[in-house]
Amino acid sequence: MNTMYGKSILNLTELTKEEFLSTIELAVAIKANPESYRGILAGKIIAMIFEKNSTRTRVSFEAGIIQLGGQAIVLDSKSTQMGRGEPVKDTANVLSSYVDAIMIRTYSDKMVAELAAEASIPVINGLTDDHHPCQILADFQTIYEQKGKLEGIRLTYIGDGNNMAHSFLIGGSLVGMDVTIATPKGYGPKAEFVEVAKKNAEISGSKIHITHDPEQAAKNADVLITDVWASMGDESEQKEREEIFKTFQVNNRLAVQAKKDYLFLHCLPAHRGEEVSADIIDGIHSAIYQEAENRLHAQKALMVKLMANL
Ligand code: CP
Ligand code: NVA
Repeated sequence: MNTMYGKSILNLTELTKEEFLSTIELAVAIKANPESYRGILAGKIIAMIFEKNSTRTRVSFEAGIIQLGGQAIVLDSKSTQMGRGEPVKDTANVLSSYVDAIMIRTYSDKMVAELAAEASIPVINGLTDDHHPCQILADFQTIYEQKGKLEGIRLTYIGDGNNMAHSFLIGGSLVGMDVTIATPKGYGPKAEFVEVAKKNAEISGSKIHITHDPEQAAKNADVLITDVWASMGDESEQKEREEIFKTFQVNNRLAVQAKKDYLFLHCLPAHRGEEVSADIIDGIHSAIYQEAENRLHAQKALMVKLMANL
């Protein structure tokens, strides 16, 4: 039975461990044999709302739905009535009568929660200030492909305690990874998501570490991850953050602490010479393009699960 049919995915707390793992399994199957899934969402339409920029999310969702036989309608919020303040409730109800799912990239998690509560169709979070669940599906697919497992993996994220950090905490603790987050003081992940991870860890056996020591954090890591220091919406703090975060750059000094066969991931876009040195992101441990490609497969799997009553 597909328990995910009709669900909204605002963050990874909506998924059980079984649902999360079965989505990754389906992503692997779709990647291996895309032809056998062609047409599975024939006649389905997804509306995609963007209030922040995107390359990967925009193109991988649109290409994915086309490959599955459906169609996408891309909405730039500035040119819709949402951009002029139409209530979220009205947008949710109206779109629910036209399309079969909504993907939204925006700032406010509260707004997306309201959209999902009012809509009668699945709403997928394509990145908010606090979460990026689709990226985690692709990242964990990549880790699974590279390392052959998820449970027991030591995942270390170094940088800003942002949407990616929160999503690694929730997703990693769900599947039994040891998750370490190292940030400068004052830039740690929100306490509520650390709490969610600790609760998950009681069941999965994960260990959760929050630290301000990047070298310690990198020790024995299977996977080293970073992200931009100033996320979309924080651009005005770019210069100030460059100074505060400089000892958190993932470079050889930190990477030598990790396991010899460590994997480097970054959701992209990246700034070489800021959060990561060019030799690491372009080096032999990096799987950034495989990770980006997996956005396509992982989101196809997610759309099949949410939109097809298999
Ligand atoms: N990683 C990611 O979400 O990329 P885009 O901002 O290009 O969608
Ligand atoms: N943390 C980054 C991720 C971009 C894909 C941001 O929110 O801008």
